[in-house]
Amino acid sequence: MLNINTQFDLIRQSATVAMADRILALKASGQNIVGLQVGDPDFGTHPAIADAAVKAMQSGLTHYGPSRGYPDLRTAVASKLNRDEGVSYDPASEILITHGGIHAYYLAMQSILNLGDDVLVPDPSWATHSNMAIMLRGNVIRVPAPAENGFIPFFESWEKALTAKTRVIVLNYPSNPTGAYPTREYLQKLQDFAAKHNLWIVSDEVYGSLYYGERPTCAAAFEGAKERTLLVNSLSKSYAMTGWRVGYLAAPARVIENALKAGQNSITCVAPFIQKAAAFALTDPAIQDVTANMRAAYSRRRDLVLRLSHELECEKVKVIPPQGAFYFFLDLRALKMSSIEMCEKILDEVGVGLVPGSAFGEQGEGFIRMTIAASDEDVEAGFRKIIEWAEKQ
Ligand SMILES: Cc1ncc(COP(=O)(O)O)c(C=O)c1O
Repeated sequence: MLNINTQFDLIRQSATVAMADRILALKASGQNIVGLQVGDPDFGTHPAIADAAVKAMQSGLTHYGPSRGYPDLRTAVASKLNRDEGVSYDPASEILITHGGIHAYYLAMQSILNLGDDVLVPDPSWATHSNMAIMLRGNVIRVPAPAENGFIPFFESWEKALTAKTRVIVLNYPSNPTGAYPTREYLQKLQDFAAKHNLWIVSDEVYGSLYYGERPTCAAAFEGAKERTLLVNSLSKSYAMTGWRVGYLAAPARVIENALKAGQNSITCVAPFIQKAAAFALTDPAIQDVTANMRAAYSRRRDLVLRLSHELECEKVKVIPPQGAFYFFLDLRALKMSSIEMCEKILDEVGVGLVPGSAFGEQGEGFIRMTIAASDEDVEAGFRKIIEWAEKQ
């Protein structure tokens, strides 16, 4: 038999995908399922953004475009980073337009990793953060981010995980699945740690504009941090544009040069009319309310869940208020059942689709991820059913 790439044997098929298939099959068989498993805003993309794409298509932007991204879009990204995060990037050399945040992360890791480099990834975290590093032949070391410390690693855990081969720290704040993000002081300490040990920080900030308290601090917004920090971001979550596949990488110019080569030799460019729509979304004054409006809706649903959990008083389901993003990472460890088993039972017995916490790492075992990127009615009905189910166990 011909050999194929054995590196993929190290990547487990995502439990999220398996659950999604099961949910689809149940729906197809006519069952009424409350879907609280997706990580996709339930809001439509603003129609004016779609109009901008159509206009660009009609004006002939249906051919190849610049691999780096159109200058107006790169300038729009740099302005956003300056305005919202207080970090200044040169649009000519330090910004690359990518095929969504996932591709920005891919290019970031591909640009800096060498064979066998150790990569520190908090646990729990979005599975792609470790899977991608493994695909690129990095060696992933998980750093526990336990619920007992607000889903942020104890600082000693970073120190403990460090080896002579450690090259990269991967961050994702606000986090998928927990919504947690650290204080400015913590990030400053982590930047000092990275500087001391000569490490890159790759920071996935796709949920950066979805927060419920104080705005999270951008990982690059510290003295000297820009030189070792790679920012991954996209319009997917902040502008409800998940299907458009457009994002960006902001990084030191020499990293962007590598990422540009990787992009040119794999996707050529992001579709020109999509780039134009993205530039419009980032700059049109009327569109900027989109993010704030969604944030208000998620905040209302977050309050709804917190109110219900207070009312229903179920000791078996511990509800930890998320600080950002649009998920609750519910603690059902009291039931002493695996996350997968719980999700399967909840789906089969009360018809609610969820994601097992173990899909995000060992620390997620005993937890389930419930999205609030669904209608208020679904969030309420789904949460009530989870509690009802848990009470019977
Ligand atoms: C933490 C995190 N990063 C990146 C992405 C992917 O974002 P994009 O649609 O921009 O590729 C997701 C999607 O769920 C995510 O949860």
